[in-house]
Amino acid sequence: SSLAKLDDTVPPTNRVQDRNDAPLEAPTDSFENTADTDPSLVANQAWGKEILARIPGSVLGNDIVKATTITEVEELNTIISTAVEHGKAWAQMGGAGRAAILHRAGDVLAGRRAELMEVMASETGKTLDQGDPEVSEAVDFAHYYAERAKDLATIDGAIYVPAKLTVVTPPWNFPVAIPAGSTLAALAAGSAVVIKPARQAQRCGSMMVQALWDAGVPREVLALVQLGERELGKTLISHPAVDRVILTGGYETAELFRSFRSDLPLLAETSGKNVVIVTPSADLDLAAKDVVQSAFGHAGQKCSAASLVIMVGSVSKSARFHNQLIDAASSLSVGYPETATSQMGPIIEPAAGKLHKALTTLDAGESWAIEPRQLDSTGKLWSPGVRTGVAAGSTVHLTEFFGPVLGVMEAATLEDAISLVNRIDYGLTSGLHSLDSAEIGLWLDTVQAGNLYVNRGITGAIVQRQPFGGWKKSAVGAGTKAGGPNYLMGLGSWETAESTA
Ligand code: ALA
Repeated sequence: SSLAKLDDTVPPTNRVQDRNDAPLEAPTDSFENTADTDPSLVANQAWGKEILARIPGSVLGNDIVKATTITEVEELNTIISTAVEHGKAWAQMGGAGRAAILHRAGDVLAGRRAELMEVMASETGKTLDQGDPEVSEAVDFAHYYAERAKDLATIDGAIYVPAKLTVVTPPWNFPVAIPAGSTLAALAAGSAVVIKPARQAQRCGSMMVQALWDAGVPREVLALVQLGERELGKTLISHPAVDRVILTGGYETAELFRSFRSDLPLLAETSGKNVVIVTPSADLDLAAKDVVQSAFGHAGQKCSAASLVIMVGSVSKSARFHNQLIDAASSLSVGYPETATSQMGPIIEPAAGKLHKALTTLDAGESWAIEPRQLDSTGKLWSPGVRTGVAAGSTVHLTEFFGPVLGVMEAATLEDAISLVNRIDYGLTSGLHSLDSAEIGLWLDTVQAGNLYVNRGITGAIVQRQPFGGWKKSAVGAGTKAGGPNYLMGLGSWETAESTA
């Protein structure tokens, strides 16, 4: 069948380090490569030395291509029509031709690992231990979508017709992997791309695009822009030549885009408020470690991050779990990425609004297990916060903060815990720590989230192994999962001989 054809596996690629997010059990599929995913100190030291040696002299890091800043509608229209025009040859090249270029893009990205880590660190504050697996993810996307491109030509007599022009609007929190994944998918499908990197991560986005150009993607087919005027965003999104928009960002942004154009063909991965449930049957030490890594990796600024932990039954009385959680969170090394050992870096902008409130103010019935501290005058560097006694229906239960604060809730039973999860409007990632197969089965059947993780952390989805995407208000538009076999399907359409006639 067509799906079986798309399920052909590709070999593991470049996932060298995923230390914090390594799966706990040996993978059973073609990604088995335990040497690569073991949290190995030896490997850690090797890359640490390499990057420290290279960062000060990083040539690319200081000399990055600049996006064209558009200030006039006419300029934007020219870029769009040029991309559509040159996109025809790109589509006609066929999947195998595009795959060769995209594989090369993966190699170029891999060869610039240190520079990409450097620019993520300097521009967005991403610590090196997070930037490193992020480059691997971008490389994985390149090789994975390259292989998928080869599957597209004809399936069961229907012909795949790619989108003509895809607009990519990525976020700042994965400033290389997400723009890379979205752009590479659209290019693999055969579409031209206009990408507008996030305002806070323009150098990261530009460096990613430069790598693709250097690999052979024509500049006309992949246009890099910044918008000098807010209004131009609306012009771009609602332009009639644009037939796909890939957005990763807040739910409100997806709604804004939809307000620009109601029939917008949107593939959006949006907000999250992700929960880990821990039952009395769990390995509590492991649960505490995974919760802390999922909550505070990248200072809690992953859409996949754990924002709440729900302790079921006797877990809430467990001094062991409580102490492990507090010890693990309070022993994280907080600092800027220039210090190679920093595990939790700064937040992207000085804490403000609901995040500032979550870091400083308790609600009724809550107390600090660990009170966050503002560590310097920038307003960006905070130690982790853990708030206990979070009530059902409270702000901390239901609101996304996108920062280093974890709420702790209690539930009498697993069913009660699942209802607390399902009351949340979002459904991106969700975790369960349990060693009881009946509990695992119940949770898998009833919890509402796109990516489910049992007995591992809830961040760090791996391309192909864990295609990534949400449910409920965590996804808007075509709900296909990034890094999975159906993603390219959403970037084109299938036409039969009759429908094209
Ligand atoms: N894909 C990213 C993760 O899984 C967001 O953490």
